[in-house]
Amino acid sequence: MSSKKETFGGTVGFVLAVCVVCALLVSFSAVQLKPLQQANKLLDQQTKILEASGLLEKAGKDIVKTYNEFVVARLVDLDSGEFVEGDVINFDERRNARDKALSIKPENDLAGINRRSNTSVVYLVKNEAGSIDTVVFPIVGSGLWDLMYGYVGLEADLNTVKSVIYSDHKETPGLGAEVLNPRWKALWPGKKIYNDAGEVKARLVKGGAKANDIHGVDALSGATLTSNGVTHTLQFWFGKEGFKTFIANYRAEGVK
Ligand SMILES: Cc1cc2nc3c(=O)[nH]c(=O)nc-3n(C[C@H](O)[C@H](O)[C@H](O)COP(=O)(O)O)c2cc1C
Repeated sequence: MSSKKETFGGTVGFVLAVCVVCALLVSFSAVQLKPLQQANKLLDQQTKILEASGLLEKAGKDIVKTYNEFVVARLVDLDSGEFVEGDVINFDERRNARDKALSIKPENDLAGINRRSNTSVVYLVKNEAGSIDTVVFPIVGSGLWDLMYGYVGLEADLNTVKSVIYSDHKETPGLGAEVLNPRWKALWPGKKIYNDAGEVKARLVKGGAKANDIHGVDALSGATLTSNGVTHTLQFWFGKEGFKTFIANYRAEGVK
């Protein structure tokens, strides 16, 4: 027979001690891992931007080096369409869009974003000769389940699509998540965002785009709602409440 008696107070004390130790361990790991998480997030973002500009294969494992060598991130005021100075490194579109002082409620919220940051980052991507041959625009818009975040790479004419790359979404695998399918992504290069009148015509076409359609890409099968979301997102971000003024300002002279 054991001489030690289990008391209620002892059990509660033991449970509390275990809780405190666990809580300390969790907070310690959260604090310790935060810089690593931030570094991974940045690496992921840089990878997507290189993919959007067609430099991912060339970069191989040297993502950070290639990004630093070829990509310059600049802030743009979306209303004036001009570059502005600011903290581009810590720029956070999601945080800005929650702040009424830094964002607006769009007049025509085609993308279903509720609020739009007054400024955006654009990524200017140089070629080996040092001239900018791609501009990568971040986009966000509603899919079926939630907001979908991605990038559109345009050639130097600021009209011809190089890529449409989604980075963050909650669409269903096999349906809306087919935006990540390489076969679908391969349909985009060469498509034009605007027609000659400057209207945004890029869109997904249910049932398949015709071979000679310079603006249309096949919709995602079984995912009309996500497809419509992608079309509306493109229409919003390349329209007048998105990058249209910036593009109009720089299309003729080119981005330097
Ligand atoms: C579990 C579940 C997940 C779905 N996920 C998506 C999705 O991610 N994107 C989407 O557009 N439709 C999704 N749908 C289908 C939509 O409800 C809708 O039927 C579909 O968008 C219609 O597309 P279709 O006209 O091409 O068939 C999902 C349906 C179910 C039942």
